[in-house]
Order: sequence, then structure tokens, then C-alpha cells
Amino acid sequence: MAIDKAVEIFSGFQGVQGDLIPILQRIQETDGYISEEAIKNISRFLRISENEIYGVASFYSQFRFNEPGRHSVKVCLGTACHVAGGNILSDAVQRELGIDHGETTKDKRFDYERVACLGCCALAPVVKVGDDIHSRVNVHRLNEILEEYD
Ligand code: FES
Repeated sequence: MAIDKAVEIFSGFQGVQGDLIPILQRIQETDGYISEEAIKNISRFLRISENEIYGVASFYSQFRFNEPGRHSVKVCLGTACHVAGGNILSDAVQRELGIDHGETTKDKRFDYERVACLGCCALAPVVKVGDDIHSRVNVHRLNEILEEYD
């Protein structure tokens, strides 16, 4: 996070501990993730340790710590999708992309997350890529789906 951007993000905050979550939310919203540099800047601004900031931020699933890829792949592991083979899809995505939950491919093409119910259980198992919901996915279709995204 460049210094002028940090100044812009911190403007409007008083520098008290209660500002931590709103600051994290603002950074997540503008950058799409919380970088190490952002954590350092917050630490200086709020005078709390980087470890403490990581501790708080990692408690909330809304914050991510890796730069997102161009396409976010979400495999649903809610009950309906789990029963319909969500775990098999999750393993297949990790194998195919070579990354784990919460990570981004080196070429920044995809990031990957396992998520709870996406709200369309009748279509299980469900995989979401960007804003697209793919229903009744199997491993064979999964590979075809991923190829659709550059
Ligand atoms: S459990 Fe997967 S969409 Fe509801």
C-alpha cells in the first residue's frame, strides 16, 4: 500500500483501536485483500502489533490475505453440495490449480475458496466462478468450466 493511499484510507479515522475493523473493511473493499504492507501501516497508525491485527482479521472470513486472482473459484461445501460430491470437486480444483483454500495461482488467473451454502442447494453440487454459478458439476465438467476463464 503506497503511503499516499494509506493516508487516504486512514483519513477519517482517529487512530483508536475501535477503528481496526472498519479500516480492514475499507482496505479489503479497495484492494480486494489485506497485504503485509497494509498490516504494517495499520500497526503504525493504531499502535497495535501486527500479530494482534492478524489475530483479529483472520477471525473474520470476509478478510483475505492473498491478492485475488482474475477469477474467484468457490466450491460449495454446504450440506447439499457436500452430499452431492462437493469434497471431490474441492480436491479436484486444488489438484487442477495447484493451490489450497485461500490461495491464488502464480499467474493470478484464479483464486480458490471453499465456502458454505451459496443459496442454490437444488443445483448441488455448485461451483461459482466470478459471478457465474455452475450447477450439478462433476470433475469432468469442472475442467471444462475452468478452461472458459482466461
Ligand atoms: S449447500 Fe451448496 S448451494 Fe446450498
